[in-house]
Amino acid sequence: MKALVLSGGMGTRLRPLTHSMAKQLVPVANKPVLVHCLENIRAIGVREVGIIVGDHADEIAAAIGDGSRLGLRITYIRQQAPLGLAHCVAIAEDFLGDDDFVMYLGDNVLVEGIGDAAESFAARRPAAQIMVTKVLDPRQYGVAEVGADRVVRALVEKPRHPRSDLAVIGVYFFTPAIHDAVRAVPPSARGELEITDAIQHLVTGGRTVTAVEYSGYWQDTGKIDGLLECNRVLLNRVEAEVRGRVDEESVLDGAVIVEPGATVVRSRLTGPLVVGADTVVQDSRVGPHTSLGAGCTVHGADIEDSILLDGAVLDGVRPVRASLIGRGAKVTSPPGTRAHQLVVGDDCRAVVA
Ligand code: TTP
Repeated sequence: MKALVLSGGMGTRLRPLTHSMAKQLVPVANKPVLVHCLENIRAIGVREVGIIVGDHADEIAAAIGDGSRLGLRITYIRQQAPLGLAHCVAIAEDFLGDDDFVMYLGDNVLVEGIGDAAESFAARRPAAQIMVTKVLDPRQYGVAEVGADRVVRALVEKPRHPRSDLAVIGVYFFTPAIHDAVRAVPPSARGELEITDAIQHLVTGGRTVTAVEYSGYWQDTGKIDGLLECNRVLLNRVEAEVRGRVDEESVLDGAVIVEPGATVVRSRLTGPLVVGADTVVQDSRVGPHTSLGAGCTVHGADIEDSILLDGAVLDGVRPVRASLIGRGAKVTSPPGTRAHQLVVGDDCRAVVA
């Protein structure tokens, strides 16, 4: 069994971050989403992983390398344009050969892992196995109609009148039967080769497609609210560990991680939260549910429920909530400032209190 991880795409919903970085490298609880995916893949015993990469190919290769640090062997497969999830399978055909494989969307987080799903697939070996989870509003998802014995009867993309509350989530198990199905389907109205169409083609052709219900926490981190929620959920699982320097005037409460080289001065830190390596927090209130990346500066600030990427600066600004601040971005309020002075790049959002 191999794995195919989809780490290309446009990432329009996560602009402006995706103008300058791959969304799969955005950290949740200070670990890139893509690393969470790769760890789940390694946990089911798969070692050969193909990663589909697009415009941010070099950055992803620099971050993940040949996979040896994660115990994996990684092959990068360049997708010239984001032509759809089934297009990713098509361009990976040489890499996949005759093997079964798990296809994993590189922006999806499944906190409980994919072990149960992998076991079901191995035990029954249907032509394809999807993973589904119950959602409140199925109209925004691919929806599966599942019959007796977990057999999928139909897959419908964003139905207006859903016939089930089971949304398809971003991990699929395939036998090589998927390759003929991918070749058989035409591009959709939005010009993409859709994996739902290829799977539906298997169903229509009488092949067995099964669904495994996932009841753990799942999130698509390709949108900002999903990313922040996922950060909260993953932080809720961390344990306190102080490896940086915390002065005597600071108060730490709950699961606070202070990474090596970080400095905390005259501040109140309420976990769960992570202070990244070499970050300085001074005269501030931080947390709960906050991830500060490496090399950040937080002075005279009050921040909660937010993510700062590496090298971000927050100075004199309070309160900051539900915010995502990109690499090297500066949000400051020097004493005496009378007006908002904003240099905001393309597709940014600023909500000023
Ligand atoms: P999506 O989030 O569905 O697509 P996107 O990345 O283009 O995002 P947006 O809708 O915000 O513009 O993609 C799911 C995952 O699959 C994600 O990790 C990107 C990846 N992907 C590819 O690698 N190639 C593709 O052609 C597409 C469509 C997605």
